[in-house]
Amino acid sequence: MAEAMTGMAEEVVPGLLLWRGLLDRPAQAAMVADIRGVIAAAPLVRPVTAWGRPMSVRMTSAGRVGWVIARGRYAYVPRHPETGTPWPPIPASVLAVWRAVSGWDDDPDCCLVNWYGEGARMGLHRDADEGEEGFHAPVVSISLGDPARFRIGGTERRGQTTRLLLRSGDVLAMGGPARLAYHGIDRVLSGEGDLLPGGGRINLTLRVVRSA
Ligand code: SIN
Ligand code: FE2
Repeated sequence: MAEAMTGMAEEVVPGLLLWRGLLDRPAQAAMVADIRGVIAAAPLVRPVTAWGRPMSVRMTSAGRVGWVIARGRYAYVPRHPETGTPWPPIPASVLAVWRAVSGWDDDPDCCLVNWYGEGARMGLHRDADEGEEGFHAPVVSISLGDPARFRIGGTERRGQTTRLLLRSGDVLAMGGPARLAYHGIDRVLSGEGDLLPGGGRINLTLRVVRSA
């Protein structure tokens, strides 16, 4: 199954695999309902960066651990920072995507939920808090809702980047040479999608975490 899925992907740059429209509209709607359940159990928060600025994206997590910024430090922790309760489980619909595309035997430890409202963006960064062993597994990313301009470069902050429009139902895997590449969201094309009433974009990233 995993190999067959890889055959259907486009390799955008080395290590970055893209499955266009992997999720059809009913699957997208079902996944949004599942994510609303996650948010009901673990409310979205607006993390504050090490520089004291609130991010424009609101976040929560599902899984064994969730990604947070705690007193300016990036960390995976077993409990929601505000409610103090364990994160809800990763929905089966989301795990099914991981199992189909990751090529990885273990399930992910974290599903980070990024909620982009109007004007939200995410600066270039690397997903580098998972621990050395966690870097062997890819990061799988699922896009739902309004389309967004995604950008990916190399492992240095400066240098050439490649741009790509991510639409609802698209799935990316960042593995191999792309696993620690800088990437971000320049802009969400607000209101151009119709999956989420009132607009917005949800991005889910699935990670194997060995640092916590
Ligand atoms: C992220 O890098 O955590 C989010 C990427 C995206 O929103 O597509
Ligand atoms: Fe990221």
